[in-house]
Order: sequence, then C-alpha cells, then structure tokens
Amino acid sequence: MEISYKKLLENNKTWVNDMTRDDPDYFKKMSKGQSPEYLWIGCSDSRVPANEVTGTKPGELFVHRNIANMVVHNDLNLLSVLAYAVEVLKVKHIIVCGHYGCGGVEAAMSNRQYGLIDHWLRNIKEVYRIHQDELEEIDDYTQRLRRFVELNVVEQVRDLSKTPTIQNAWRKGQQLYIHGWVYDIHNGFINDLEVSYTNANDLPEVFKLEASH
Ligand code: CO
Repeated sequence: MEISYKKLLENNKTWVNDMTRDDPDYFKKMSKGQSPEYLWIGCSDSRVPANEVTGTKPGELFVHRNIANMVVHNDLNLLSVLAYAVEVLKVKHIIVCGHYGCGGVEAAMSNRQYGLIDHWLRNIKEVYRIHQDELEEIDDYTQRLRRFVELNVVEQVRDLSKTPTIQNAWRKGQQLYIHGWVYDIHNGFINDLEVSYTNANDLPEVFKLEASH
C-alpha cells in the first residue's frame, strides 16, 4: 500500500528529469502563466486522461472532470471553471468528451440505488427522459448504452450554450466553439459527434437570453 503511493513520487522525479533534459528552462517558462486554447469537460474515469488521448502537453488544456462529464447548471465548480476559461483565458474551443462504457451513464440507465450519487445521476436520468423514445427502440443493451452516452454529450453541449457565460461571449463576438466528442475505451479513438455550437440560434426560444442591462 505504502509502496504503491511512493511510486508516484518516484515517477514525478523521473518526469522532471525527462522534461528538463532537452529544455532546462521548461518549468521556468511554465511558471510564467497559461494560455490554453481549449477547455476540456470530461469524465473522472481514470481511463480517459485528457492530455494523453489528445496528444496535448501541460499548458494546452484547461480541464474540468466529473462523473459522466456533466454540465450541471447549478454546479458552482463547473460554472467557475467555465467563467474563468471563457472570460479570462478566452479559450476558443470547449470540448465535452464522454466515453463509451461510462459507468455513470450506465448507472443512470438502471433502477439501482447508489446512495448520495443518485442526486448526481438524476441529471443524467433527465437526458434519458428527453430521449426515451429513441433509446428504447434500441433492443441491444450495449448499443443502447452507447447511444445514451452520445446523447448525454449532446445535451451537455446544449446545456453549455444555455449558460449566460457562453451566450454573453457569443454576443460580444468572441470566437467560441463548443464540441461534443465520445472517446472509445475499446480502441482509443475519439468519435466527433459533429454537434458543434457557435451560437444560440438552435436553442428553444425560452433559453435564448437577451443582453443584460
Ligand atoms: Co465515465
């Protein structure tokens, strides 16, 4: 047990050596600040590391992760990350990346009780309700779950575009694209769902916010 965690600290020393071998000033440059182009909203699942699967380095991705990559409109953590990414860092792309085989989405599709987590899963169950007809036409359990994962990402992309943070940025002419992707833990490839949003035009009328005074 003890050895297991000490391995991480050993790995860290090796990593520092690797990073500074070719570029002795690497950490000096890093410490000056960040200007990532991307905000990544992904699942907490240990098998979907944002930087590794996108071939990006430290400094390139601003990251928020939670169970099942949710954009919950009263989650202060998500909202703060979003506001900082959009208003201060001025990221150009926000990527919501789900993954096939997501335990959170699978739990939300079941009727089992999970305790406290049920409050979180409730948000995912609402996505199921919206797309119930399409999902229940799929007889195969695995295929239904895969589609549910995709539809969950689509709804999180829509939920992002409902936020005042994003609608205000668009109104000011800020270039900001929202993308929906699904990572496949079976082969490592990312499936671009091509649900990119660059404005609020496609939202139901009730979600379109006027300029604030
Ligand atoms: Co997951």
